[in-house]
Amino acid sequence: MTSTAATSLLNSELVAKKETLHCPVMVSEVLDGLSLRPGGVYVDATLGLGGHTEAIMSRCPEIKMVLGLDCDTEAMEQAESRLAPFGDRVRFIHSNFIHLHDVLLSNKIGQVDGILMDLGISSFHLENSRRGFSFSREESLDMRMDPSDAVTAADMVNKLPVERLTELIQTYGEERWAKRIAKRISDRRKTAPILTSTELAKVVANSIPRKYHPHRIHPATRTFQALRIAVNRELDNLKEALDSFPSCLRLGGRLCIISFHSLEDRLVKTAFREDSRLKPLTKKPLVPGPEEMYSNPRARSAKLRIAQCIEPVTDTLQGLLQEEKK
Ligand SMILES: C[S@@+](CC[C@H](N)C(=O)[O-])C[C@H]1O[C@@H](n2cnc3c(N)ncnc32)[C@H](O)[C@@H]1O
Repeated sequence: MTSTAATSLLNSELVAKKETLHCPVMVSEVLDGLSLRPGGVYVDATLGLGGHTEAIMSRCPEIKMVLGLDCDTEAMEQAESRLAPFGDRVRFIHSNFIHLHDVLLSNKIGQVDGILMDLGISSFHLENSRRGFSFSREESLDMRMDPSDAVTAADMVNKLPVERLTELIQTYGEERWAKRIAKRISDRRKTAPILTSTELAKVVANSIPRKYHPHRIHPATRTFQALRIAVNRELDNLKEALDSFPSCLRLGGRLCIISFHSLEDRLVKTAFREDSRLKPLTKKPLVPGPEEMYSNPRARSAKLRIAQCIEPVTDTLQGLLQEEKK
């Protein structure tokens, strides 16, 4: 083991002690999918705790740079400490990934060799963020990945009209009991606002007849997923990214996207099939092997799709950068 790798491992151990370390999913499939090359520049659009970026840098130490974006500064601080051994070859950008084009421009980087998106929340959010992502922890009902965003889950639960709440739980949670759940929430908030994750979990569980409680998941799982997607505008952000990311890739560059539910995967699949700038390299999404599914429960619903940029885009970042130089 090189001393850098040893320091990196030690760093990981320290972070693991401080927080429950998020275990990156489908690492070897992602590394192959990105087709890493020496001198290449890559974007980790959802840096999180830096697990995938650490793997990228370790697999191909001759990489020029990884640009890591995250909208959550707390997660990013942990990634910074984990990735310190790689020095300034990892750049940390606090930003929503929908702004990637501008981020590349302001960092004077042209089109890149590969972009990774590992969607959703990390185990840091569930276990350590104290923002009410988990129905089993008594925490304030927040659910914002970026705490500077304006609207919290509590705002939605306590202020949205019941029809809008129903629609949101139905669409983003694919929850058949959405109408009953929204009605219960609306009745309950007439007496007192719902302010914590466990309060909401109880209201939701009580809305669904016991004999219809799902066997494998908590009855509030789908409602929590719906609220989280709505608070963080997850599907809108993904749509914007799918639209703008191809023009951030050089010809031949790779786009790897890991999604965790069917709503996301459907968007990725359609964009990869219909965008003439992209060629899908995975006909069916890749899924984790049985060993990973067993050892990392979060991996169980992961789906990885990979596409390649096949069209030199005319309005290129390179062009804009050259214009700037003139
Ligand atoms: C599943 S985690 C990534 C974990 C990471 N791959 C690792 O190995 O540690 C997803 C991360 O993406 C971030 N994120 C989600 N939506 C985002 C967005 N629109 N812009 C930037 N970051 C986002 C979340 O804050 C979270 O830290």
